[in-house]
Amino acid sequence: MPIAGKFITFEGGEGAGKSTQLTRLADRLRASGEGVLSLREPGGTPFGEKMRDVLKHPGSVIQPAAEALLFAACRAQLVAEVIAPALASGQVVLCDRFIDSTVAYQSGGRGLERAAIEAANRLACGPLRPHLTFLLDLDPSRGLGRASLRDHGRSDRFEALGEEFHRQVRASYHALVREEPARFRVLDADRSPDLISEEIWHEVQARFA
Ligand code: TMP
Repeated sequence: MPIAGKFITFEGGEGAGKSTQLTRLADRLRASGEGVLSLREPGGTPFGEKMRDVLKHPGSVIQPAAEALLFAACRAQLVAEVIAPALASGQVVLCDRFIDSTVAYQSGGRGLERAAIEAANRLACGPLRPHLTFLLDLDPSRGLGRASLRDHGRSDRFEALGEEFHRQVRASYHALVREEPARFRVLDADRSPDLISEEIWHEVQARFA
């Protein structure tokens, strides 16, 4: 499969099952002989992992603009140190969240100006864009419920923002799909993980075979 050097991202609200699906796709690609790098945002570098703790910690007090810039800073570090070299060396890069999360959460959810978020994304990654983005779409009440079960009732700083915030995030993701339908594949995340991973596998084969 000519998938070497492809960049695939997973997006969605809380509890949508992105990381499970990313892991399944990575395993399947590796089994078919591909070199795969699995990453998450924020994270994937020592700087990004430290910032992840700060950004998610319920006790952190961070202004919306500062929050957007911190996500962009993590991304700049990850792109330069990890993603760009991996793609150049022919690996398939899978990333749990990327530029669309900042548009959905910091513009859609927090209400920051979209153009400013786009500028921060451009600064962080230049012209790099995912070749394919899976949006795991789920009603926020279901997703927050699942996240709460997973985390034993301990909400992080974003989960704690409540359903209305997460409805804005979801609406923003839907708007992004309308803007770039060719890049996105929307998946109903309220189904069994097996069904979803089959759909993902077929899409990857159809796109890159
Ligand atoms: P997660 O890895 O469990 O999805 O946690 C990351 C959290 O950070 C999630 O609540 C979404 C949020 N986030 C943003 O608000 N903006 C971003 O740009 C990114 C990458 C994540």
